[in-house]
Amino acid sequence: MAEKHFKYVILGGGVSAGYAAREFAKQGVKPGELAIISKEAVAPYERPALSKAYLFPEGAARLPGFHVCVGSGGERLLPEWYKEKGIELILGTEIVKADLASKTLISAAGETFKYHILIIATGSTVIRLTDFRVEGADAKNILYLREIDDADKLIDVIKAKKNGKAVIVGGGYIGLELSAVMKINNLDVCMVYPEPWCMPRLFTAGIAAFYEGYYANKGIKIIKGTVAVGFTSDANGEVKEVKLKDGRVLEADIVVVGVGGRPLTTLFKGQVEEEKGGIKTDEFFKTSVPDVYAVGDVATFPLKLYNEIRRVEHVDHARKSAEQAVKAIKASEEGKSVEEYDYLPYFYSRAFDLSWQFYGDNVGETVLFGDNNPASPKAKFGTYWIKDGKVVGAFLEGGTPEENTAIAKVARLQPAVENLDQLTNEGLTFACKI
Ligand code: FDA
Ligand code: NAD
Repeated sequence: MAEKHFKYVILGGGVSAGYAAREFAKQGVKPGELAIISKEAVAPYERPALSKAYLFPEGAARLPGFHVCVGSGGERLLPEWYKEKGIELILGTEIVKADLASKTLISAAGETFKYHILIIATGSTVIRLTDFRVEGADAKNILYLREIDDADKLIDVIKAKKNGKAVIVGGGYIGLELSAVMKINNLDVCMVYPEPWCMPRLFTAGIAAFYEGYYANKGIKIIKGTVAVGFTSDANGEVKEVKLKDGRVLEADIVVVGVGGRPLTTLFKGQVEEEKGGIKTDEFFKTSVPDVYAVGDVATFPLKLYNEIRRVEHVDHARKSAEQAVKAIKASEEGKSVEEYDYLPYFYSRAFDLSWQFYGDNVGETVLFGDNNPASPKAKFGTYWIKDGKVVGAFLEGGTPEENTAIAKVARLQPAVENLDQLTNEGLTFACKI
């Protein structure tokens, strides 16, 4: 089979790949120089849509509506855009072998791709219950969500099991967003997770109490402090029941599992330095191997603000790290340099009529402010994280764009606070004054 050569190859066709392609175009990439190789059959799109509007029963988001870069208010890159720029989109193509020493990638179909510079943008995959050998976890209608094909499968099952029972396993991002959208689809929803409150990676007990109350008011049942240890299925092999560790048994027509992600680094094991589960990079997303960069979910990079190296599994960083890597590549070709990456962590979520944003670091003491009564018609509340006398993180539910900008500024500037009562009393005003 013929070999294909490119100056630049982006491996992966998700969020980072799309934003990297836009940056390459801005920097004047020449036709034929750049290829994106993706396992998915569609051009890069805004992945966050999959757990939100893509699953709505009415007025659902569909491609080409949410190709990158609409998620950040940018130009929508349709497949024609790549053609016009001479960027080759090699879709439906899984790379199964990567040899960084000989700069070669090999696809499942046996094609060979050679590059001068490689950007690894393979993102994450889901952790499956079959990975832990949970009994019966391979039954039909036990579903995961990462890619558009997974979302399409989910839609088919939602239609087939109209008004049925859905059990959501996991209380993280997928758990909270999917429980909401399944409820909007008129399913009878029950969430199960092991922790004492939802989203413990980020939420304090006070923040979580609001969402749990709001979900309960919507009719979603929440079972905490236990896990799914087995599933039974019917004669068709379709899931019928979820067995919990505490002995309870839940009826289920659909199970959606969101028990975390795992960065896709396996192709490069032993060839590149890794840290904290990801591929280690510098502030320009260069890896330990010359001419190889890693961006998005797979990169473990220096987070300058906290003088630490971290991996971030969120879309804002996927976009910005991709742009940074491309700027650094193009600058180094001209013997120039770019400023080092100075990232302020930013996470967000939306479900029902709710919308929150978080900036900074969730470490230290916390202060909860505002109206966090889940029954309030327009609840607006937030939390500050305070470390060494400085505000280092801020969370806000129901903020206006200006208020969200204000909490971002607080997290970036880290103002000192005299005492925590001042923050409790001033609440959002504290951020808006900065
Ligand atoms: P991404 O996963 O986007 O892309 C990786 C690409 O590589 C995929 O196209 C994959 O098929 C391809 N690939 C992998 N291995 C390959 C191989 N061997 N050969 C070829 N192709 C290969 N974040 C946030 O901040 N707010 C939000 O609301 C959401 N919502 C959200 C919903 C859902 C359902 C998911 C799954 C994730 C989110 N996220 C999010 C997280 C965010 O989407 C995520 O951090 C970025 O998509 C990461 O971008 P990457 O480009 O690193 O990976
Ligand atoms: P997560 O890490 O956010 O949450 C996983 C949850 O599952 C945790 O509450 C965990 O304790 C729980 N859990 C672990 N084992 C369990 C078990 N055996 N039974 C029941 N619960 C168990 O991961 P996720 O929600 O699966 O999300 C996957 C990826 O997608 C992440 O990278 C996430 O950042 C991304 N994502 C982000 C957003 C967003 O930023 N708004 C939305 C959707 C997905």
